[in-house]
Amino acid sequence: MTTVFDCSVLTLPRIASPSGNLTPVYGGVHVPFDIERVYYLYDVPGGESRGGHAHIELEQLIVAASGSFEVILDDGRTRRSVFLNRPYQALHVKPMIWRELVDFSSGGICMVLASMPYLEADYIRDYEDFLGMKRHTP
Ligand code: TYD
Repeated sequence: MTTVFDCSVLTLPRIASPSGNLTPVYGGVHVPFDIERVYYLYDVPGGESRGGHAHIELEQLIVAASGSFEVILDDGRTRRSVFLNRPYQALHVKPMIWRELVDFSSGGICMVLASMPYLEADYIRDYEDFLGMKRHTP
């Protein structure tokens, strides 16, 4: 069974300069899957939450491109919290992990690199359904 400890924070490359830093990201190199889609959450009011679901097959990297937020990971047994506030840090969230993004800083931007196109059928949006599916996973 996939657990919250299978999700790790990766350090992306950083090209530093006095005029600002730059982070290049290559699918299959810095990201452990082919990037099929990028999306970002912005204009999130300070203190607001997002997420509250799991994915059946999709995996993703979550980056605080600006500001900060906390990601609560939950595998049905264990909960783990990861605070993201650096654009060169990326949280790898595996499939079948419930996630909530909480406590956005005002102006925070959450960039997501995803392994699949948007597919509503890949979402588990009900926490009880998620727990039931985890119980039946060896
Ligand atoms: P959702 O994944 O529920 O957002 P979050 O987890 O950040 O709270 O998506 C919100 C809405 O946006 C929902 O109606 C589906 C739609 N959506 C797309 O159309 N394409 C996408 O790539 C994503 C991520 C969401």
